[in-house]
Amino acid sequence: MMKGRGVAIITGGSQGIGEAIARRLHGDGYTVAVMDLSMPQQLMREDVVKHFRQTDVTSADSVETAVQEILSTYGAIDVLCNNAGVSSMQRVVDMTEAEWDFNFDVNAKGVFLMTRAVLPTMIRQRRGIIVNTASMAGVKGVPLLAHYAASKWAVIGFTKSVALEVAQYDIRVNAVCPGFVKTSMQARELQWEGQLRGMKPSEVFDEYIRLTPLKRIQVPEDVAKVVGFLVGDDAAFITGEAINVTGGANL
Ligand SMILES: NC(=O)c1ccc[n+]([C@@H]2O[C@H](COP(=O)([O-])OP(=O)(O)OC[C@H]3O[C@@H](n4cnc5c(N)ncnc54)[C@H](O)[C@@H]3O)[C@@H](O)[C@H]2O)c1
Repeated sequence: MMKGRGVAIITGGSQGIGEAIARRLHGDGYTVAVMDLSMPQQLMREDVVKHFRQTDVTSADSVETAVQEILSTYGAIDVLCNNAGVSSMQRVVDMTEAEWDFNFDVNAKGVFLMTRAVLPTMIRQRRGIIVNTASMAGVKGVPLLAHYAASKWAVIGFTKSVALEVAQYDIRVNAVCPGFVKTSMQARELQWEGQLRGMKPSEVFDEYIRLTPLKRIQVPEDVAKVVGFLVGDDAAFITGEAINVTGGANL
C-alpha cells in the first residue's frame, strides 16, 4: 500500500545521511523505497522503509530493474533522492585511475543513471522532485579529494542542467551540499586523512570542527531537514539550486 504523499526512492538509504533522509520522508508521509548495496535492516524492522531492492547505482541494468520494480508495485514515482556516494583520499600525484573511476562511477554516473531511469515516469506524471546529495566539495576545492570534488562539481552541473530540461513538466531538481557529517564515510576519511597528513584521526576530527564556524560536527539530520524542505511544498518554486548545509564550512 502506498502512503499519502507518494513514493520516495532514496539511494544509499541504508545508513548515514540516506538513513536520516529515509526517516524524515517517512515522517512526512512518503512510502520510502531504498536502493542500496546493503539492506536497511533496522529501518525495515521499524517500518520506515517499505521497499528495498539491492541496487548498484553504477550499473544501468541494476538501476533499471529496481526502478521498474517500483513502478510495477506502486505505479508512480514522486521523489528521487540521489544520495548514494563514496569517497577515497589521495594526493593527485599518487592517485590511481581506479580511484578516479570509483568516485566518478558512483557519485556522478550513478546520479545520471538513476535520474534517466525515473524521468520518463515523472514526465508522464507531469510531476516529480529530485534532490541530489552533492557536497561542499562540489562548490570549493579540497586537497586529497580532487577526484571526489570533481565528481560532486559534476553533480551540481548535472542538477542545474536537468532542472532546465524538465521544468516544463513541473519536475524540480535541486542539490544539497553537506559539510563535515558524522557518518561511516567520515570515520573512514578521518583514518585516511590522518595517515596522509601524519595526524591522529582525533586531531583531524577537531580540525573539522575548527573549520566549521557554527563549531560542531554536523549530523545527518542537519542534511535531512533541508532535503525535507526541498521535497516539500515550501520549496515549490525552487529548482536548479545547490544549497550549502555546512555550518559555514564552505565559506
Ligand atoms: N559524510 C560527509 O561528511 C559527507 C559530506 C558531504 C557529502 N556527503 C555525501 O552524502 C552522501 C551520503 O554519504 P554518507 O556520509 O551517509 O556515507 P555512508 O558511507 O555512511 O553511506 C553511503 C551509502 O551509499 C551506499 N552506496 C555506496 N555505493 C553504492 C552503489 N554503487 N550503489 C548503491 N548504493 C551505494 C552505501 O552502501 C551506503 O549505505 C554521499 O553522496 C556523500 O558523498 C557526505
